Amino acid sequence: MEEKKILSEKQLEDLNKVYRNKPIEDLLSYVYTTFGDKVALASSLGVEDQVLTAYCMKENRAIRIFVLDTGRLNQETYDVMHKTMENYDFKYEIYFPEREDVEHLYQKKGPQSFYESIENRKECCHIRKVKPLTRVLSTVDAWITGIRRSQAVTRQHTELFEWDNTFNILKINPLAYWTEKEVWEYVKKEKIPYNTLHDQGYPSIGCEPCTRAIEPGEDVRAGRWWWENPEQKECGLHFKDGKAVRKKDLES
Ligand code: ADX
Ligand code: SF4
Repeated sequence: MEEKKILSEKQLEDLNKVYRNKPIEDLLSYVYTTFGDKVALASSLGVEDQVLTAYCMKENRAIRIFVLDTGRLNQETYDVMHKTMENYDFKYEIYFPEREDVEHLYQKKGPQSFYESIENRKECCHIRKVKPLTRVLSTVDAWITGIRRSQAVTRQHTELFEWDNTFNILKINPLAYWTEKEVWEYVKKEKIPYNTLHDQGYPSIGCEPCTRAIEPGEDVRAGRWWWENPEQKECGLHFKDGKAVRKKDLES
């Protein structure tokens, strides 16, 4: 088996310095040239991922883009998935949870155990998101995500390039410093297809039973797992067992 590319703290620091003030196109171009088919963009079909998809389609149509289909997504999410495929004439890599895991969970705890406790909610996220993600990440040396610093308290130290201690892989967050306003300005300017739920008060979209619309003035992630505390609102893709995945979070 091929060795995974590992970057030192110093290399990450240098990359972050170099790309902090460069256009996103330069960052993506560096990423494609360095990793080729060993890098993939994770798309939840949320607006940030639509921006990244548009950039990838402009710059390098061969980039791998994957969706973790939890089996509990909104119809509007499938609609935008379909529309995006038509718009750019490409196919997503789609990953599903293991059939046995879902059957076992339902037989043991029923179809909505996630409302009953944080442990149950994390169990469902583990089966439907984290395990399939682990499967995809075993095929790459780096993954690209749409996370931004201002999305959540848990994301305030996000870097452009960081070592993901959860999955032991390089994580690239090209929109780390973008504001929500900048994201939407770009979407409108480029006429990028987006999830119509965003127009119905959903700034952040996950699975249908665990996401609701928010009121004006509420936190952008208030509609995700709305029955939990802000510190717990991570499904394991970017945080593990309530612990940080990057060093700076551990320090704060
Ligand atoms: S989550 O951890 O709370 O679900 P969020 O919805 O904010 O994450 O999305 C953050 C980033 O995680 C997205 O920009 C995307 O890169 C990745 N991501 C989240 N959900 C999925 C999914 N279902 N499929 C692929 N990538 C996803
Ligand atoms: Fe399960 Fe809800 Fe997590 Fe989706 S967001 S995987 S339905 S607990």
